[in-house]
Amino acid sequence: KSGGGSEYDFIFKVVLIGDSSVGKSNLLLRFTRNEFRLDTQSTIGVEFAYKQIIIEGKKIKTQVWDTAGQERFKTVIPQFYRGSEGALAVFDLTKPESFEHINTWIEELHRHTPADIPIVLVGNKSDLVDQRKVSQDQAKDLAQRLKVSYMETSALNASNVEQAFITLVKSIF
Ligand code: GTP
Ligand code: MG
Repeated sequence: KSGGGSEYDFIFKVVLIGDSSVGKSNLLLRFTRNEFRLDTQSTIGVEFAYKQIIIEGKKIKTQVWDTAGQERFKTVIPQFYRGSEGALAVFDLTKPESFEHINTWIEELHRHTPADIPIVLVGNKSDLVDQRKVSQDQAKDLAQRLKVSYMETSALNASNVEQAFITLVKSIF
């Protein structure tokens, strides 16, 4: 809580993980600035941004860490997972490999955070209906096995983006 003015009641650190190009940076951009970019550069290392949300009357400041999905960062990124209180594990609904890699991303997360860290599995790019390759049943099965929630989002048309972050923050809170 900040000094006199009570700027916020809680602050939570959450992290975005998943393969390169699944749309992590655009989910962050949509959530924090309501923007989308078709020409996003692949993230180098780690970036973060803040967004204040109100849940059950409480002002919650979320600090969202957006990590690089590229293979060449695999050894340096996990140290930034430390202290995270929740994670969005993102895959691309049009890229089955990104779905298959979710287990590995979550295993790596668990090496740096408590085993009970809240996670929301996110299937992004739901707008690309014709190119979809991962079914809702497949994704729900995985979520059930991992004991996490599952949501489908589109950073492009903003569908479910805020809801995914709110679902995550509610399970921390
Ligand atoms: P790294 O930083 O390399 O880990 O990738 P990233 O996961 O941050 O992906 P990024 O947000 O940079 O998006 C990759 C590409 O997918 C960009 O061209 C985006 O415009 C596009 N993209 C992201 N989200 C969506 C979405 O919901 N729908 C569609 N159609 N394209 C998206
Ligand atoms: Mg990125």
